[in-house]
Amino acid sequence: MGLLDSKHAVITGAASGIGAETARRFVAEGATVVICDLDDDRGEALAKELGEHAAYVHVDVTEEGAIERAINLSIHEFGGLDIVFNNAGNPGSIGSILDVTVEGFDRTIAVHLKGVFLGIRAAGRVMVAQGSGSIINTASVAGMQANFAGHDYSAAKAAIIHLTETAANELGESGVRVNAICPGFIATPIFGRAAGLEGDQAQASIALMEMSASEAAPIRRSGMPSDIAEAAIFLGSDRSTFVNGQRLAVDGGLTTGRLWRDSMKNAHEGLALIKAAVEAADA
Ligand SMILES: NC(=O)c1ccc[n+]([C@@H]2O[C@H](COP(=O)([O-])OP(=O)(O)OC[C@H]3O[C@@H](n4cnc5c(N)ncnc54)[C@H](O)[C@@H]3O)[C@@H](O)[C@H]2O)c1
Repeated sequence: MGLLDSKHAVITGAASGIGAETARRFVAEGATVVICDLDDDRGEALAKELGEHAAYVHVDVTEEGAIERAINLSIHEFGGLDIVFNNAGNPGSIGSILDVTVEGFDRTIAVHLKGVFLGIRAAGRVMVAQGSGSIINTASVAGMQANFAGHDYSAAKAAIIHLTETAANELGESGVRVNAICPGFIATPIFGRAAGLEGDQAQASIALMEMSASEAAPIRRSGMPSDIAEAAIFLGSDRSTFVNGQRLAVDGGLTTGRLWRDSMKNAHEGLALIKAAVEAADA
């Protein structure tokens, strides 16, 4: 028995990273998955790997009407729609707000905020009519606190958290749940993409990211796509039927604040300096 037996899911940004691992785990838990992405080669390869329980559809989440193609396939080929995971994303603009271009800003808002809006709307139109469903949006720790990512990306993720709450409040009355997952640092190609890498080169940056993120949070390892997939399984499954409108940080404790091990080291060093200075003045 899988946690998602006989459930039908649509996942965006599912050709890579968090979305791809979630597609694998969803199928392992008994779901069918429609994989949506712009990266046709990787999306089709993943659908082939997952066999008869998966299909790939080219979806640009910024285009009105695009995700409906995947939803229709889920309903007509697989037999229904129970979960939509709005997960597609790009790294956003990096650098000072003084240098963010209007094109870059618009693109980030379109991929993240507009993409999630279109996904919620399309899923909601089906799920409200049937009286059930789970919509999961990928936000970020960057939407909870400043300085984990660039300006436009952080603002878009904060707005996704809020849109999750407003949608959850309305759609909950029809039996449709809407929740957000806020990943911390997760080893995926998104950081390679932020550095300007593409395709296989971006995928090759995962191991480096895993190493460099290993000391960022109280839990001393990098986050992995499977950590987010597990949260998505919970939110998509019947184990969470009373969970609605939440932002679930999956971040190893990153958003609890400054690292204890660093602040204690600074405190010890600072106190030792004060003591030494006073003793030297007395001598
Ligand atoms: N990796 C992290 O540390 C982290 C942290 C917080 C949030 N996130 C979020 O997690 C989500 C998944 O990112 P990831 O880390 O797996 O990165 P990733 O780069 O591995 O995957 C993102 C996928 O989204 C696809 N995509 C981009 N624009 C699209 C569009 N317009 N339409 C459809 N697909 C599109 C890409 O082709 C790619 O396959 C994103 O929303 C990202 O912002 C990631």
